[in-house]
Amino acid sequence: MTNSKRKILVTSALPYANGPIHLGHLVEYIQTDIWVRFQKQRGHDCTYVCADDAHGTPIMLKADQMGITPEQLIAKVSEEHQRDFAGFMVGFDNYYSTHSPENREFASLIYRRLNDAGHIARRTITQAFDPEKQMFLPDRFVKGECPKCGAADQYGDSCEACGATYSPTELKNAYSAVSGAKPVEKESEHFFFKLGDFEQFLRSWVDRHVQQQMIHKLNEWFDAGLQQWDISRDAPYWGFEIPDAPGKYFYVWLDAPIGYMASFKNWCDRNGIDFDEYWNAASETELYHFIGKDIAYFHTLFWPAMLEGAGFRKPNGVFCHGFLTVNGQKMSKSRGTFIMAETYLKYLRPEYLRYYFAAKLGSGIDDIDLSLDDFRMRVNADLVNKVVNIASRCAGFIAKKFDGQLGDKLVQPELYDDAVRAGESIAEAYEKREYARAMREIMHVADRANQYIDAAEPWVLAKQEGREQEVQDCCTLGINLFRVIISYLAPVLPQVAEEAAHFLNLDSLNLTDGFEWNAIESPLLNHRINKFKPLMQRVEPDAIDKVIEDSKQSLAAAAAAAPAQKAEPAQEPIADTIEFPDFAKVDLRVAKIAKAEHVEGADKLLRLTLDLGGETRNVFAGIKSAYAPEQLEGKLTVMVANLAPRKMKFGVSEGMVLAAGPGGKDLWILEPHDGAQPGMRIK
Ligand code: MSP
Ligand code: ZN
Repeated sequence: MTNSKRKILVTSALPYANGPIHLGHLVEYIQTDIWVRFQKQRGHDCTYVCADDAHGTPIMLKADQMGITPEQLIAKVSEEHQRDFAGFMVGFDNYYSTHSPENREFASLIYRRLNDAGHIARRTITQAFDPEKQMFLPDRFVKGECPKCGAADQYGDSCEACGATYSPTELKNAYSAVSGAKPVEKESEHFFFKLGDFEQFLRSWVDRHVQQQMIHKLNEWFDAGLQQWDISRDAPYWGFEIPDAPGKYFYVWLDAPIGYMASFKNWCDRNGIDFDEYWNAASETELYHFIGKDIAYFHTLFWPAMLEGAGFRKPNGVFCHGFLTVNGQKMSKSRGTFIMAETYLKYLRPEYLRYYFAAKLGSGIDDIDLSLDDFRMRVNADLVNKVVNIASRCAGFIAKKFDGQLGDKLVQPELYDDAVRAGESIAEAYEKREYARAMREIMHVADRANQYIDAAEPWVLAKQEGREQEVQDCCTLGINLFRVIISYLAPVLPQVAEEAAHFLNLDSLNLTDGFEWNAIESPLLNHRINKFKPLMQRVEPDAIDKVIEDSKQSLAAAAAAAPAQKAEPAQEPIADTIEFPDFAKVDLRVAKIAKAEHVEGADKLLRLTLDLGGETRNVFAGIKSAYAPEQLEGKLTVMVANLAPRKMKFGVSEGMVLAAGPGGKDLWILEPHDGAQPGMRIK
């Protein structure tokens, strides 16, 4: 390990601006944040930037559905994301947006350089087009029956029933997920990045900068041949217009990674840092990207090729991680294990999760499991019973008997030296992102400290005459070992570390940071410490139950925010959640109950004549147990206006009214506020 100061720029993937942060995302942001805090603690010049990934069709459509502009949507989401990241103590130096002037500049610049060097091809392609919405449809927005197995409602790229992959034009009975219209085929000219031009460069670059486990996957991609990459989209599109190509926009994934540069540039401009020193082709600074394995293709092929082609530096490393499972399974909305950052924070301390992830994370791409029982037991056993316990066993004696004053020597200096020496291997583990190993080694130091205190028994000595000095010596060593351990844990537990720094009165030491990595080389002797306050409470089982319960409850609210932008199946293909486009298809309207009547021979149904402001509908509703017809006439309610007509025993029902309640007498039709007018759309 060199001691010279490194200049390091670190990024995490830019989260999509169309959905909330969940615990799966946090694997990445916590992993990165720990690494960055570690580098800073080592005294390096480390900068951590991120941004919202704010462009693309899903964001455009979602804003449209919400009746707001994309700018309004991304501003709102950015605030929520930053709130959630701050809640988990993810300490970005800059958090920006890909919808920024800097990003527009860099995207145009990189495109121009690639184009000038002949790396951009133009070709006319045929694509699915929504004649109603007048827009080309991304594969994910064309649905229909699988051409292989016939399963209904499959996406245009792959079948979730049989796993077949195909192009949207092969779907049977295809329809647009945006409008429901039957897509037509339409031609348009697209721009392609000629990835194949960079094959030689990439083959050797990848070998040196990507994890071994990933290289295997990359070799498959090389063997399959590097295809040209379609980087343009036609209007209407939410993104940056391509220079000199009116009506053509950069595909969101073109400007997304460039957002790393843009966020950094924005930070440089505000802090007087030299951007070019970091990004010129011969830069001696270091650049690392932390990403999930699902987006490796973009970061290990397209991105380095774009940088190479445009004359910028390449990353020193692209660090891929695996996916989060909860209790051994994919996160699930129905099981309550699709947990939003916000929901977790209502009941549990962020550092529990930071520690648990650290205890599980290696440098590879294996998935990591959050087993909730294991989580609780592990945090309680390691952090509360082992680490914090060391301080609480010693602090009282020092405060009461010695006025907060630590002794002037370490009685077993070799024990302290061993703990300090362990730091070398722990630092190496952090550096290599082998956090699980780092945590094991730290807990080993904590075990030794506890064994020492167990054997020394200060609580016994304290009751014996003439052994005062031994009590002070023992607790002085205990507190010093505690300090070493907290110093090692500081990248993972920033808040605990800050409180411990106050308890240990480290401010008085004249360090730039209380836990500078090498500070532990000088033990705290003849040093006054402050009053000890419990640094961490146990994780209680009912707090976890509440998180699960709350996650189930907030399902309805979150359904509208399910990420639809992935070019792969969403988190959970189970039918208990729907994608936003499915929800968007439901046409909810305000209706006035013009007439309500009993139905001859039906004991549950009422026949309603609904006025939609110019149009009337005949609807049978099973609400007779709760309402007499005369109670209903004249009321406003909410109806599903585009439900296909259903033939019932008593006639055709042309829609459905919405009601809530368990049933019987306890059933209430939904009533909009006064002022709503029949026919109004509900958003
Ligand atoms: N917007 C793109 C990234 C563009 S980077 C130039 C994107 N966004 S995302 O919101 O879907 O994901 C952000 C990061 O979180 C990705 O690295 C992704 O792999 C990671 N994760 C999202 N869900 C995850 C889990 N369930 N588990 C672990 N990481 C996950 O992709
Ligand atoms: Zn199929």
